Amino acid sequence: MEYKSTTNNMQATTIKLKSRPVGLPNANDFEITPTTLPPLRPGEVLLETKYVSVDPYLRGKMSGTKIPRFEIGSPINSKIIAKVAASNSPDFTEGDYVSHYLDWSTYQIANGAGLENVDPAQAALTAYLGVLGVTGLSAYFALTDIGQPKAGETLVVSGAAGAVGSIAGQIGKLMGCRVIGIVGTDEKMDLIKSKFGFDEAINYRTCGDIKAAIARACPEGVDIYFDNVGGPIADRVIENINTYGRVIACGAISNYNDVDREKSFSLLPMVVYKFLRIQGFLIADYRPRFPEGIQKLQTWLSEGKLTYSETIIKGFDKLPDAFIGLFSGQNEGKMIVEV
Ligand SMILES: NC(=O)c1ccc[n+]([C@@H]2O[C@H](COP(=O)([O-])OP(=O)(O)OC[C@H]3O[C@@H](n4cnc5c(N)ncnc54)[C@H](OP(=O)(O)O)[C@@H]3O)[C@@H](O)[C@H]2O)c1
Repeated sequence: MEYKSTTNNMQATTIKLKSRPVGLPNANDFEITPTTLPPLRPGEVLLETKYVSVDPYLRGKMSGTKIPRFEIGSPINSKIIAKVAASNSPDFTEGDYVSHYLDWSTYQIANGAGLENVDPAQAALTAYLGVLGVTGLSAYFALTDIGQPKAGETLVVSGAAGAVGSIAGQIGKLMGCRVIGIVGTDEKMDLIKSKFGFDEAINYRTCGDIKAAIARACPEGVDIYFDNVGGPIADRVIENINTYGRVIACGAISNYNDVDREKSFSLLPMVVYKFLRIQGFLIADYRPRFPEGIQKLQTWLSEGKLTYSETIIKGFDKLPDAFIGLFSGQNEGKMIVEV
C-alpha cells in the first residue's frame, strides 16, 4: 500500500489538565494549546475528532481519585467519535468513523489498537457515545443485573433527566415498574414524564422535604433505587426503601467536588433490619457482555420503545465549559461536544 505522510507539521489543538481541580472545576484548570503532529508512520491513522463524550467520571481522573488519573500537562481523554482523515493501516480507510478513548485534540495519530468502527447508517454517530455507548449500557446492566426489577415494583432514579438516568427509567418502565425520577428543574420534570414515560417526577431543589416528597410519590415505598447522585438525596430515598429493597450505586455526582468529607448519617443499621442489598456498579466489569447490551438497546430503539436526549454543544474550545456544566445540570440527556 502507499504510505501517506500528510501529517508533516500538521497543527492540532489539544486540551490538557493544567491543575488538579479543588472543588468545582473552573476554566483555569484546563489549558488549550496548539500541538504539532509528527508524520504518519506505517500502521498509523490520522483521526479528526468529531464528537467528544463529556462525563462526570472525568472529575475523579482529574483529581487523581480515579485510576488511571490524568497527569498535569497531559491531554484529557474520553470516548470520542473520530473520522479517519488519512490511513496507513490496512484495517482503516479514509472516511471511516471510529470510536475509542482518545485525547481531547482536534486531530491525533493512533496506531489502530482499540479503535472500533461505528456505522453512521445504523445509528446517529452521537448515539454511540450515549444510548448505544457506556451510558446506555450502564443503565441496562446496572438495572437488570443489580436492580432485578419485577413488574409492579417501584423504581426511583436520581439524575433522571441525565444520560444514564433517562435510559434507566425507560428500561424500568419496559420491565413493568412504576418509575419516579428525581431532577433539578421543572423543565426536566416535564421532560422525563412526557418524553421518557416516568410516572412521577420530583424537583429536589424545590420540593422541600425530600424524604416526604418521595413518600408522597411512592405510597407503596421504594423497591429499587438507581443512584446517580449520592449524598443527601440518596439518603432520603433509602429512608423510604422497602424490606428487601435494592440500591444500585452507579454514581455519586453530588460528592465529586467535595473538599471536606461529607458528613452523612450511617445507613448500615437500616441495611441490616430491612435486608437491603446495596451494590456498587462499574460498567468496565461488563465488557464481555457489551454485545448483548447493545443488541437489546438497539432492538428497543428500532421498535420505538426507547428514546434519548442529547445536549450537543458546538466548538472544541467549549469542552471545559461543557464538563463543568454537568455539575449544575446544564445537560438534558447525554452531554456531547461537537467539534
Ligand atoms: N458506574 C459506572 O460505570 C458509571 C457509568 C456511567 C455513569 N456513571 C455515573 O452515573 C451518574 C450519571 O452520569 P451521566 O453520564 O448520566 O451524567 P448526567 O446525569 O447526564 O449528568 C449529570 C447530571 O447530574 C445532576 N447533578 C449534578 N450535580 C448534582 C447534585 N449535586 N445533586 C443532584 N444531581 C446533580 C445534573 O442534573 P440535575 O439538573 O437533575 O441536577 C446533571 O445534569 C454519574 O454519577 C456518573 O459518574 C457511572
